[in-house]
Amino acid sequence: MREWWRDAVFYEIYVRSFADSNGDGFGDLPGITQRLPYLRDLGVDAIWLTPFYPSPGADHGYDVSDYVDVDPLFGTLDDFDELLASAHATGLRVIVDIVPNHTSSAHVWFTGDRSRYVTAPATGSLPNNWPSNFGGPAWTLDAERDEYYLHLFAPQQPDLDWHNPQVHTDFDEILRFWLDRGVDGFRIDVAHALVKDAALADEPEPFPVTRFSSEWRNAIDRPEVHDIYRDWRRLTDSYDGERVLVGEIVFSDQTRVAPYLRPDELQLAFNFSLVFQDWNADAIRESIDSSLAALPIVTWVLENHDVTRIVTRFGEREARAAALLLLALPGPVFLYQGQELGLEEVDLPDEVRQDPIFKRTRGERKGRDGCRVPPPWTRALPARSWLPQPATWSAKSVEAQLEDDTSFLALHRRALELRPSGKLRWRSSPHGALVFERDELVCVVNVSAEPMGLPKLAPVLLASEPLGDKLPAGAAVWLRAPGVEHRAGPEQ
Ligand code: GLC
Repeated sequence: MREWWRDAVFYEIYVRSFADSNGDGFGDLPGITQRLPYLRDLGVDAIWLTPFYPSPGADHGYDVSDYVDVDPLFGTLDDFDELLASAHATGLRVIVDIVPNHTSSAHVWFTGDRSRYVTAPATGSLPNNWPSNFGGPAWTLDAERDEYYLHLFAPQQPDLDWHNPQVHTDFDEILRFWLDRGVDGFRIDVAHALVKDAALADEPEPFPVTRFSSEWRNAIDRPEVHDIYRDWRRLTDSYDGERVLVGEIVFSDQTRVAPYLRPDELQLAFNFSLVFQDWNADAIRESIDSSLAALPIVTWVLENHDVTRIVTRFGEREARAAALLLLALPGPVFLYQGQELGLEEVDLPDEVRQDPIFKRTRGERKGRDGCRVPPPWTRALPARSWLPQPATWSAKSVEAQLEDDTSFLALHRRALELRPSGKLRWRSSPHGALVFERDELVCVVNVSAEPMGLPKLAPVLLASEPLGDKLPAGAAVWLRAPGVEHRAGPEQ
């Protein structure tokens, strides 16, 4: 029997935004429970909940002050249990986000003796040249204690010291707490970063040279981190029900991710390589091929709560085509809430922006608020919303899209219904096109700027745009296999 997660479509719920049950402008756990039928009808297999634990909210939940409770903003532990039971009754698995690299500075471990953290004595200068991912140095001086503490993210997110065995014991207990409640697994935040270079050596190249990836850091991705995942895997395997570990391992080069997916470590890791690509056929194909070559199992991601929405990156028409590409690829897929509605990145006014990236870089980097605006459920937009929804989202609401066969939502629902199985085999294709076959279908994506001929007689299963006898630029189609021959254009 194939494990459930091998072909699963996971749907990321940014809890603070997804669905607000009490009208306070923030999403909450009961709101998610109410929307489970929507997710079932969409056709996803599992949901991933971003952190809902007590948190001062400096990084909207990724600064946890108590790992075994629910923040009152989002509900209670009873609400969590009800959500989990309803999800399971609906046929949906639930994975929760675990944040082991750092805690909130409000955590009692940090306000207490601080023995679980990476600290360095105050000697007058910074301990080394490590920068924070959110701008500025990765060290903050605590004058009262006469020491620096490390934070790869915001100063309110001090990094734990995984060289300390106590931290291992603590997290074993935390994982057990949620496993005992019945979660189907964990998404592990910045999984490659937990263990730091104990010597705290300077980085040769301290400034990020690639976007959204950690290639340039020597201080992390250390051999010892793999022992943690071997322990965690033993722990999750001791539970019934195929619990899964999914690592957020942020390298654009997937060969750096492969060691985390050894048989006794994590089952899955996000493959962010498509997130780095422009709308370019050669680049996308290269990214798909190199991921398939590098990894034992490949996941596919175009959006999440940290990156610009694809409608804004690629264009609206192209985002529809990208949905057919994504959902035709072999292996687990991660969708981010609102991706199925074709939501664009919202160009928010500076005064409402809240992301620590925006604040720490004094607006030089806009940050991630634009992809975190609560999705519209009804044409009548709510009176309160922690980030303002554009008025144009009334027409993009779930209510409006459910009434329109040509909507983004309808396209996603149909694609999830028809999702193919089997190996990916490329077919020869005109320049600027991506054409591959799985068992049931052939996926043709026209990434070029010109309309493309389509094979005659092949029944169309699904198209991202209305078709004539050509496939428009920026469109995609699923054709029934086998027997589809691509005759148009020069072969590549
Ligand atoms: C991960 C999360 C991101 C968060 C960061 C620090 O990259 O996806 O949202 O800010 O870790 O926890």
